Amino acid sequence: MGPGATALGALLLLLGQAPRGRPHPQCLDYKPPFQPPQPLAFCPEYSAFGCCDGRRDAQLSARFQVLGSFLDPAGLQSCGRFLRDLVCQDVRSPVRALPGLCPAYCAAFWLRCRSVLSLLTEDPASLALEGDRARFCGALELGDPTYCYPAVLGSAALSQGLGRVREGAHGCLQLCLREVANGLRNPVAMVHAGDGSHRFFVAEQRGCVWVFLANGSRAARPFLDLRAAVLTSPWAGDERGFLGLAFHPRFHATGTFYVYYSARAGPHETIRVSQFRVSAHDPNAADPRSERILLEVLEPASNHNGGQLLFGADELLYIFTGDGGRAGDPFGAFGNAQNK
Ligand SMILES: *[C@@H]1O[C@H](CO)[C@@H](O)[C@H](O)[C@H]1NC(C)=O
Repeated sequence: MGPGATALGALLLLLGQAPRGRPHPQCLDYKPPFQPPQPLAFCPEYSAFGCCDGRRDAQLSARFQVLGSFLDPAGLQSCGRFLRDLVCQDVRSPVRALPGLCPAYCAAFWLRCRSVLSLLTEDPASLALEGDRARFCGALELGDPTYCYPAVLGSAALSQGLGRVREGAHGCLQLCLREVANGLRNPVAMVHAGDGSHRFFVAEQRGCVWVFLANGSRAARPFLDLRAAVLTSPWAGDERGFLGLAFHPRFHATGTFYVYYSARAGPHETIRVSQFRVSAHDPNAADPRSERILLEVLEPASNHNGGQLLFGADELLYIFTGDGGRAGDPFGAFGNAQNK
């Protein structure tokens, strides 16, 4: 994984709260939630924020059709809703074959739907329990019942006021998080300009940089939109994209900042580090015509792209390029980056 992916995970921990009232129950594929580019037809409850895109939604719909075809009309009538709920949760986890179910929901599922169990999972442990409701539902119960489906959807603690700080006389009682942004698409960097404006800037992997004003609101237009130049794709595992952003240590005087992104260079892929300048007319917009390319490095593979940009206390710009990538780290006599 590149540092972009790590930063993304950290950012999501800090910021990634589902909009109020529309939580995704469990993103069990371990990918960060996002807003699908288009509404979902089969699992529309996850259209605003979730783990599913249109292609996956169509696959889930097809899966439901296949599973449903094993039921007669009466079975579909009594079990269809449960089946759809479970299929939409899209569990693809090495540790769980089925989502954690709350006892009452599990009992109803078992009563109406246990005949489809062998279609939903090949997990022998789950299948062995099929004949015994108490043991089956006991196995699907979660250690912390607030996370079981569907209670998790209605839990105020898990879906509302997520940023509320728990403080006592001596300060923070728990790890205190405050939501400052949501609805972002794969945020990979969050920096400030050091200019006393109390703004912060969030870069998305696809190539948009958003400015959040001192009062917390997001400026309507992106600060910078490099989507046309940035090389990436909607594939969740794509490590390429807009990966780094750093403001000049004396930005208030120079108006310059630096970006790091993947780009196409003829038949090759490259990483590119460029300088841009803020617009002369609008402090919340970059001048899109001000790009000055400082460095391009050909990428032998499309992963391990690095991406961090940092100014040191010495006011020099440090660029972290990654190690060239490809499965098995095959480059160089010792493998990627092993020989300093
Ligand atoms: C935040 O400040 C901006 C710029 O002054 C203003 O346009 C916007 O309405 C403010 N938003 C809120 C929520 O106060």
